[in-house]
Amino acid sequence: MTSSTLPQDAPIGIFDSGVGGLSILRHIRAQLPHEHLLYVADTGFAPYGDKSEDVVAARSLAVARFLVARGAKALVVACNTATISAVKLLRESFPDMPIVGVEPGLKPAAGASRNGKVGVLATERTLVGAKFLQLRDQISAATGAEFLLQACRGLVDQIESGDAQATTQLLRRYITPLLEQGADTLVLGCTHYPLVRASIEDVIADSGARGIVLVDTGDAVARQLVRLLDAGRLLRAADDAEPASLHAYTSASAAALAAAFNSLVGIDLPVDEVAFERA
Ligand code: DGL
Repeated sequence: MTSSTLPQDAPIGIFDSGVGGLSILRHIRAQLPHEHLLYVADTGFAPYGDKSEDVVAARSLAVARFLVARGAKALVVACNTATISAVKLLRESFPDMPIVGVEPGLKPAAGASRNGKVGVLATERTLVGAKFLQLRDQISAATGAEFLLQACRGLVDQIESGDAQATTQLLRRYITPLLEQGADTLVLGCTHYPLVRASIEDVIADSGARGIVLVDTGDAVARQLVRLLDAGRLLRAADDAEPASLHAYTSASAAALAAAFNSLVGIDLPVDEVAFERA
């Protein structure tokens, strides 16, 4: 990818179970336009959210090893489910590597809520994870916020399938009960959900609810990545002779991921199909 051996010129490795991580990649590209990026969509193993913590952790480690073997200088776990299940294991496995995870934005949501009722939309695996429950208890004790948890079974697959009408129907099924219970703030606790933000807003508007705040942590995740790279003197400088590159890998169809990049990020790029060794 690059002829340079400078650590700053190494790529940043980003992964998700599918296209959800593109909602994070968009912020990374905006804030770090000179960085080389590698993106893995582990679509062949998706969804992560209905698998056990051990299985998601082992798979995340295999994907992370793949990215590290391709020279990644930092890792972004662009998936709430993988972060909750595996970020500790990844930090133990790569102790010198800057690693940024994504967690549901409970703290900003508690700050944004006017009535202290916050709905959390996420995968089943995220919502039963010990790391998530600890975070909920901590923020709840500190702010008094009540978190209403909604596991969104089938939603990741539905978003991946690209059928907008069916996605909106499923969103309505999960969002309506939260609004009926009085939530004035909704946490998008899965990186796939910001990709259907317009449909989420439609469902809220149809319900008649007003002033509902949506919380998405993509921007904060990219800012944390900038901070860690800066602290490790790993930020790449602009180089007109070698502009920033982006390479994508998938454990399913290369054509499908290339199409998703085109429609969701607005770029055409090469995609390689890969298989991941179990750790
Ligand atoms: N984008 C992943 C997340 O943030 C989806 C996980 C899944 O595949 O179920 O949780």
